[in-house]
Amino acid sequence: MRLDRFLSNAKMGTRNEVKKFIRSGLVTVNGIVVKNEAFHVSEKDVVRLNGKTVAAHRKVYLTFNKPAGYVSDRVEDTASVYDLLDHPYVDELQVAGRLDKDVEGLIILSNDGNFIHRVISPKNHLQKEYLVWFEGDLTIEKIRLVENGLKTGTEEFKPAVVRPIQRGLLSLIITEGKYHQVKKMMALLDLKYSRIRRVRIGNLELGELKPGDFRELSQEEVESLFLNS
Ligand code: URA
Repeated sequence: MRLDRFLSNAKMGTRNEVKKFIRSGLVTVNGIVVKNEAFHVSEKDVVRLNGKTVAAHRKVYLTFNKPAGYVSDRVEDTASVYDLLDHPYVDELQVAGRLDKDVEGLIILSNDGNFIHRVISPKNHLQKEYLVWFEGDLTIEKIRLVENGLKTGTEEFKPAVVRPIQRGLLSLIITEGKYHQVKKMMALLDLKYSRIRRVRIGNLELGELKPGDFRELSQEEVESLFLNS
């Protein structure tokens, strides 16, 4: 890979900026100053800018606690989850399974397209668990209906698991990601939701992450996400 591309991919600056760094002698490859921006570097080479080793571009995987009030897309003049991600790779990150603006909780983001596809593909049946604060009666009949798969005239939902946690709070585990699915299921059960929070995707729990905070997932966490699915 060209040296200028290596540096800009590694988020050291725009292509023009890194070219200037190279031409002004700020960049070394294996300890030798290289002023040619087209110089070829490979994974084995140690590239330094201003004496600091530059880590090559990498795949990143984030877990993020989305607060309500933020959309999951990049929309101009609208508060978006991307506004809360102070991360050098933010421009490359994509959400692996959106949440509605009024829904809070666990979102996974990555710049690894294959991984995102695996998380959202219905073929992988990855569980998504939601806590729902609601008004109404969650009867045993309604629990059975969910377990058998809720249906409307136009839409069918796969069998899911719903459990009361305490008065006015339930847990719903689904393996699909249909548009407004939790809200539609609540409407079919004649339950009025006031708050929805996603707390788990596959084996990854929201845990102690505070609203608006994110952290990078370890390779182990990324791999174990799909276990049991
Ligand atoms: N179901 C919904 O209705 N909304 C979400 O954001 C996620 C699941």
